Amino acid sequence: MTAPDLTDTPLGELLDLSGQAAVVTGGARGLGKGIGRRLAEAGATVYLADVDGAAAEEAAASLSGRVHSVEFDATDHQAHEALADRVSNEQGSLDIWVNNAGIYPFTPFTEMTAEDWHKVTALNLDGVFYGSRAAATRMVDQGRGVIVNMSSTAGYGAEGGNIAHYTATKHAVRGLTKSLAFELGPHGVRAIAIAPTLIETPGTVSQKADISQGMGVDDAHEAVGRQIPLRRIGVPDDVARVVLFAVSGLAGFVSGDCVLVDGGLRSR
Ligand SMILES: NC(=O)c1ccc[n+]([C@@H]2O[C@H](COP(=O)([O-])OP(=O)(O)OC[C@H]3O[C@@H](n4cnc5c(N)ncnc54)[C@H](O)[C@@H]3O)[C@@H](O)[C@H]2O)c1
Repeated sequence: MTAPDLTDTPLGELLDLSGQAAVVTGGARGLGKGIGRRLAEAGATVYLADVDGAAAEEAAASLSGRVHSVEFDATDHQAHEALADRVSNEQGSLDIWVNNAGIYPFTPFTEMTAEDWHKVTALNLDGVFYGSRAAATRMVDQGRGVIVNMSSTAGYGAEGGNIAHYTATKHAVRGLTKSLAFELGPHGVRAIAIAPTLIETPGTVSQKADISQGMGVDDAHEAVGRQIPLRRIGVPDDVARVVLFAVSGLAGFVSGDCVLVDGGLRSR
């Protein structure tokens, strides 16, 4: 199957996701909610899937467009299969799957237990595998679809201390995404990773003190903002707009790459 040549498709149509069904894991808050908001604005029917079902319901109710909420644990293989089935049955297709749910607990490496390690890898890596597989099997049958995997600037290097497990998973997500692009491309399915720098979300705000300790500063958000060529840390919509680009026809010939959303940080 060859990717369609979209040269004659009007710009508005390239960005129009009407009739497409999208899943965003970890969609109740932070980056996931921001991504869900833009996908719904572009016309997609969006499922915000989050382990915090009440927060997902609240997020869905607060957004305009066709937005559903699902209580869902991204560390559970069967939950991904059930969600993929539900969306395909309800919407007639599964077009966009964003593996966004992730955690970043701080633990010095010499104190890191096997349990600490597996808690992070179970969600940030195994969860991305489960989601990618559930989405890919349906998308290959359809002959189209886009999988987006949330990596990080920590997928390129060590971004401060105490998150070795996190750094390992975010590197791995980039490699997995390349393999998906290679294997699924001939079936019309694209895969793209996204690598944000520090973004102000409920998760990073609640861990500000931990992040600061890892960096040896008082306010990590301010300190990182000063390092970034565009002179601030990110907001969720900085990432959401890039995800919208990635899943839209604008990026119809982009697959396997990881897009840095870091205000120029890694250009240094
Ligand atoms: N915020 C940043 O600075 C930043 C930078 C780079 C990458 N990222 C990545 O972006 C993603 C989202 O980060 P965020 O800052 O928005 O996080 P956040 O903590 O603000 O929100 C994460 C959401 O995921 C949900 N979640 C947690 N465990 C889950 C599970 N097992 N199943 C389903 N949902 C679950 C939480 O309930 C929450 O709603 C993560 O993969 C993170 O690693 C974040």
